[in-house]
Amino acid sequence: MGKFGFLVHPLSIEDVAKKYKIARKVSPKLVAGVLKRRRPFVISEATGIRSSTGAEAKGWFIAVPLLPHQMLELDEEFVIKKIVKACKIARKRGARIVGLGAFTALVGNGGRRIADRIDIAVTTGNTYTIVTAIEGIKRAAAVMDINLSEACLTVVGATGSIGSACAQCLAPEVGELRLVGRNMERLEYLVGEVKRISKKDAIISTDISACVREADVIISVTGAVGDVILPEDIKPGAVICDVARPRDVSQRVAEARGDVLVIEGGIVNVPGDADLNFDFGLPKGMALACMAETMILALEGRYEDYTLGKDISVEKIGEMQELAKKHGFELAGLRSFDKAMTPAQIEEVKKKARSRTRGQNWI
Ligand SMILES: NC(=O)c1ccc[n+]([C@@H]2O[C@H](COP(=O)([O-])OP(=O)(O)OC[C@H]3O[C@@H](n4cnc5c(N)ncnc54)[C@H](OP(=O)(O)O)[C@@H]3O)[C@@H](O)[C@H]2O)c1
Repeated sequence: MGKFGFLVHPLSIEDVAKKYKIARKVSPKLVAGVLKRRRPFVISEATGIRSSTGAEAKGWFIAVPLLPHQMLELDEEFVIKKIVKACKIARKRGARIVGLGAFTALVGNGGRRIADRIDIAVTTGNTYTIVTAIEGIKRAAAVMDINLSEACLTVVGATGSIGSACAQCLAPEVGELRLVGRNMERLEYLVGEVKRISKKDAIISTDISACVREADVIISVTGAVGDVILPEDIKPGAVICDVARPRDVSQRVAEARGDVLVIEGGIVNVPGDADLNFDFGLPKGMALACMAETMILALEGRYEDYTLGKDISVEKIGEMQELAKKHGFELAGLRSFDKAMTPAQIEEVKKKARSRTRGQNWI
């Protein structure tokens, strides 16, 4: 049986309150202070993961008690030590590979500094996340009758590990490409890579709103703590794949923009009778792609550092796509703001989009 660990952390005070109700009643500063002092701990044992090859795996989810902003703002050495402690808990339980969830994968140079300090394999899960983000945006564009070869794709968070790979893989398939980041130097390097690999030019910018306004299709995958995609910026009929955790797309979009399709990126069906035995906001049998990558590597017995750092090769993305297929993992149906979307709801989005004039301002 393959054995893995996977690190998670609360993405919001609301997440903390799922376990400690009092978190809703006290100040966020107090909650953050208590979390900072808390040691990592096991939150659940995942069972029933059975590959189509017959191989089985089980794993332990370990909480690293820090909020996203703490992961970014606290002394990096302090955060890394806490993450390494959590990895050691997984190892003690018998895990031979550990996946780094959400912001635990962002610190320490994309997991490299964590991998240097423990003697079991480490992966960020970003390779399979890229596979599913690409599959997801293609599927969502198709249901909205968007022809990708004529569409404008904006990648927000394009200079990141997931964003840059999505940009490079999708560049040859879209009409126009816009890459948004925070740093022009990194964007210039990326556009050079995109041109070299796909012979496709791209517009680069640090202005998220301006590039979102132009896009028919958006992949948003930043490491931001707050809202990045706002309702007033989105074109009627646009499709957004929100891969970020915490989410990039403002909750206000769900309330105010019935004419755009927002899908959650990176959610997959796990083969077998899988139960993560914890409320990650997903139905039983589903997992985030980064969790799934860790499961796939355990099922395959590939106990090696798999995805680390910021550069993920196209070959590796192809390999992970094949491994996922071999073990029976597949993209879950389209989900939006924690709920499955029915064909009727998608038709409703299309109807509302048609009733708005193209280019009409939302406000
Ligand atoms: N759904 C899943 O299964 C899954 C799996 C893995 C990761 N994720 C999520 O995906 C996201 C990105 O992960 P990654 O590994 O690609 O991260 P990364 O390599 O650190 O890249 C983050 C990107 O976001 C940009 N960014 C950071 N803070 C920002 C801000 N405040 N406003 C605008 N842009 C900002 C960065 O710009 P700079 O280049 O300037 O830093 C970079 O382009 C995270 O939210 C992570 O939790 C989801």
